[in-house]
Amino acid sequence: MTIGKKNFSRREFIKKNSLTGLGAFMAIGSPAFALSCFNGDIKTPAILGGAPVRTKSWYSWPVWDVDKDEAAIIDVMRSGIWCRVERGGHVVTEFENKWAETIGSKRCLALVNGTNSLITSLNMLDVGGGDEVIVTPYTFIATITSILEVGAMPVFADIDPETFQIDPVKIEQKITSRTKAILPVHILGLPCDIERIMDIARRHNLVVVEDACQAWLAEVNHQKAGTFGNAGCFSFQNSKNLAIGEGGAIVSDDEEFMDRCVSYSDNGRPYGSADLVGGGYVRRGNNLRMTEYQAAIGLAQLNRLDEETTIRNRNAQYLKTRLSAIPGILPYRLYDNVTRAAFHLFPFRYKKDMFKGMHRNRFLEALNAEGIPASRGYPGNLNKMEYLNEAFNSKNFKMMYPKDMLDFHLYVENNRTPENEHLCNEEAVWFYQSMLLGNNSDMDDIYNAIEKIHENADKIVASTT
Ligand SMILES: Cc1ncc(COP(=O)(O)O)c(C=O)c1O
Repeated sequence: MTIGKKNFSRREFIKKNSLTGLGAFMAIGSPAFALSCFNGDIKTPAILGGAPVRTKSWYSWPVWDVDKDEAAIIDVMRSGIWCRVERGGHVVTEFENKWAETIGSKRCLALVNGTNSLITSLNMLDVGGGDEVIVTPYTFIATITSILEVGAMPVFADIDPETFQIDPVKIEQKITSRTKAILPVHILGLPCDIERIMDIARRHNLVVVEDACQAWLAEVNHQKAGTFGNAGCFSFQNSKNLAIGEGGAIVSDDEEFMDRCVSYSDNGRPYGSADLVGGGYVRRGNNLRMTEYQAAIGLAQLNRLDEETTIRNRNAQYLKTRLSAIPGILPYRLYDNVTRAAFHLFPFRYKKDMFKGMHRNRFLEALNAEGIPASRGYPGNLNKMEYLNEAFNSKNFKMMYPKDMLDFHLYVENNRTPENEHLCNEEAVWFYQSMLLGNNSDMDDIYNAIEKIHENADKIVASTT
């Protein structure tokens, strides 16, 4: 079997990546593998030469059905219709209809990625030069750059560290006469306090674009994330729970807005005329169209998403209960109205004081040595990085804003988010979504590894100095 330029035997390939081979592949070179070669004592932390809690692999991602999913992509390839505007293109439309139906939205537009879904939404809601957009600092950078890309000014509202989400109280404090929009993010796949945010938006007449790029099928009071605001945006990038490689979508009930988005994403052709060459152009536009074979992958992934989301929720709940028993481990809190989370990540706060002062980096190293991969997550300085200053020094920003608004030092001072900084720099730890696709025994491995590190914290700390 040939994949790109690399040749794999079909068996070898299936074993590594497909559903039938789930869990069969151990990453050689990982600390867990290396340390499993030592016949160390199981009670001694692996980082100090003991045997790791886990030598078994974690689940690889993405996964697919070798028979059904590969056949669907080959069908598209053999049709020769790879672009949706070719006559007969229908797979992207099918994906859009299915995603809209799945999340309970009137319309969906599939695009090249989540970043451009955000940019298109802001653009077509007339958010632009001179406007302020209130946003969380605890997110992937694309959320912020989408605001800059339309010429608007990101205004950071601090987070609630217990939930990892933007704090509605802080949002309200940041509203000025220039505020045009709120861009709430359901970060990590845990719903933000969207009902309160919508209430604030209604009272202040603000536009809401939900960044649901990590929140496929997450729900608040049984309503799906992404369907509360004027628009909801999703990402289908490779690591995502609904993985296409690259891809994104906008959803909304506002037909007129969606017509504008379709037109904008198709070089400005009028909505409904996509397959007409020379059909006229009604607006400035871009080409952000998803391909037919991307949509075929999306449809295949969508078949499994609901079941996988149920498994992630079950495992997250079990893991949360177990980890809560370890002093110094504080798992995420969901808002009371959350009926389902997506769990793109499983986050907790690490309190080093309960681990004899062990630095979080050392804790992560110790965890990794036990065969449990984890990350410290986002950097805490998206609100003061140089990319903002670079935008402020651009011709467009200089034309659109008074000088004092582009004073970077003043901006940084006005956009301080100490809760976020503390969370990112000191406490946050994540487990990846694919780790939540296992069973109780996999979650027990995570618990046992952290418990072991906790019990041996003094020895690990002593070995560090
Ligand atoms: C919260 C958030 N917003 C936006 C994006 C951008 O999506 P994409 O990578 O598909 O452009 C991502 C992707 O990682 C994300 O996690």
